[in-house]
Amino acid sequence: METRPVRVPDFRKMKGRAEKIAVLTAYDATMARLLDRAGIDALLVGDSLGMVMLGYDTTLPVTLDAMIHHTRAVSRGAERALVIADMPFLTYQINGDEAIRNAGRLLQEGAAAVKVEGGQPVLEVVHRLVQIGIPVMGHLGVQPQSVHQLGGYAKRGSLPQDSEAILADAVALEQAGAFSIVLESIPSELARAVTGKVGIPTIGIGAGPDCDGQVLVSYDMLGLFDRFTPSFVKQYAHLADEIVAATEAYVDDVRAGRFPLAAAKAAGSRHS
Ligand code: KIV
Repeated sequence: METRPVRVPDFRKMKGRAEKIAVLTAYDATMARLLDRAGIDALLVGDSLGMVMLGYDTTLPVTLDAMIHHTRAVSRGAERALVIADMPFLTYQINGDEAIRNAGRLLQEGAAAVKVEGGQPVLEVVHRLVQIGIPVMGHLGVQPQSVHQLGGYAKRGSLPQDSEAILADAVALEQAGAFSIVLESIPSELARAVTGKVGIPTIGIGAGPDCDGQVLVSYDMLGLFDRFTPSFVKQYAHLADEIVAATEAYVDDVRAGRFPLAAAKAAGSRHS
């Protein structure tokens, strides 16, 4: 297995290869270490952590401090994977100076790149970040930070004017210097068209098979987040069920006095 760390220029070069780019979200060091060990190319410290880890209904309450905390943890666990941190709501939309300061903080804590949502309205910010050496990943289609404006998380880009706008935004993001673009919940044909049009890798989520790579929320893919499962998710494990079953067994054992056994090693430390 390839062990050389994935850097932003390597990621860019993975565009158009027969072997697609595999990306997952990660929020803590232990999970990052496991996903990295499995050969993942990039770990996205997504602001989805607000929903799957912190119990919020949207990503909007996620703060820069929370992102810094989780980015630090993920970067301690990742050895090979490229670590990309989401810029949370209101940390890049106000002006370029704030965006630079906030993105810079995420890089200081171990991210190699940041991700921002949107097209036209964020082009100037993307350009400024890239100019000073902060790699930026774009995010088009469903933009969870605009959930109230969009009225939910329904697929985007089905109407001709929407698909044209997404195509134009993708081209503009590339011109502004983005090194990659996430395409979330758009029709496969549109994702294929965007992928063919831009010279940077597209990473799809609910956008069909023709992107240069795929990303999923790890808690969805592992069956750990059980409040709802988006229709495009494939669950490769059912960890929520396993955790409940294991915990039930532990509770039973403790209540019945089967754990710990008297003969078991009592000494030792959790921290040794
Ligand atoms: O926050 C996140 O996890 C994301 C992915 C869904 C792409 O932006």
